[in-house]
Parts: sequence; structure tokens; C-alpha cells
Amino acid sequence: MTSDLYREQILDHYKNPHNFGELDDADVAQEGDNPLCGDVITLYLKLDDGKLSRATFRGRGCAISQASASMLTDMIVGKPIDELRHFPTQAVLDELGVPISPARMKCATLAVNTLRVALNGGAGGDDDD
Ligand code: FES
Repeated sequence: MTSDLYREQILDHYKNPHNFGELDDADVAQEGDNPLCGDVITLYLKLDDGKLSRATFRGRGCAISQASASMLTDMIVGKPIDELRHFPTQAVLDELGVPISPARMKCATLAVNTLRVALNGGAGGDDDD
């Protein structure tokens, strides 16, 4: 895909986010924020037999932060929890598909960092943002 198509895909996820909304029977609800701008997302995770059976999110923020949360929820459903504890940041960056400047890196990694906090209780995971 060209970078224009990636940009369009980001805007599409931003305008029509996948898996958006609260999950009533979530096993884990984890809020994460970007202190630089005050943007916030909450991830809702439903676990089933060692796997993630559903993932939704709510939030407000810039296109990159909300699109990456939308993409992340698509990417992680059905995966083993053990694997998701170390879900690579790079997978989200690859999915976004556009160069992310250092200033926007916190936007792009907000959702995946929140996932790690949700599954590791605030510790562990790779801290590569
Ligand atoms: Fe706030 Fe991107 S500007 S998360």
C-alpha cells in the first residue's frame, strides 16, 4: 500500500472505529492516558480459557491514538493471553503503516501500552516506546 492509502485507512478507523464501546461483562477494564495531551482510552477485555475472546475500547484523542486502538482490538482477539502480555509495539506501528515521528510515538503506542498494563498489572512487557 502507498502511504496515502495507509493515511486513508487511519482516518477510516478514526471515523468508524472497530470494536468501539464499553463491554459490560469485561474481565479487565484498563484506562490509559497520554499525559502530554490528556487523551485517553479505556480497553475492555474478555478472557476465556487463556485466550482473549473479545476486546473493545472507548476513548477520545487524536486520529493516530484512536485508529491504533481500533486496529489493536482487531489484531488481538483470539490470541493467547500469555502472548498478548508481550504484544510487540512494532506490530501496531506496522499496521499504521506511516512513519511516526517521535512526537507522535506516544499517540501510536497508547493502546498497546494500555494492553500491557491491563495484562501485566502495570509491570513487565517490553518498554520500547
Ligand atoms: Fe493525544 Fe495523540 S495528541 S494521543
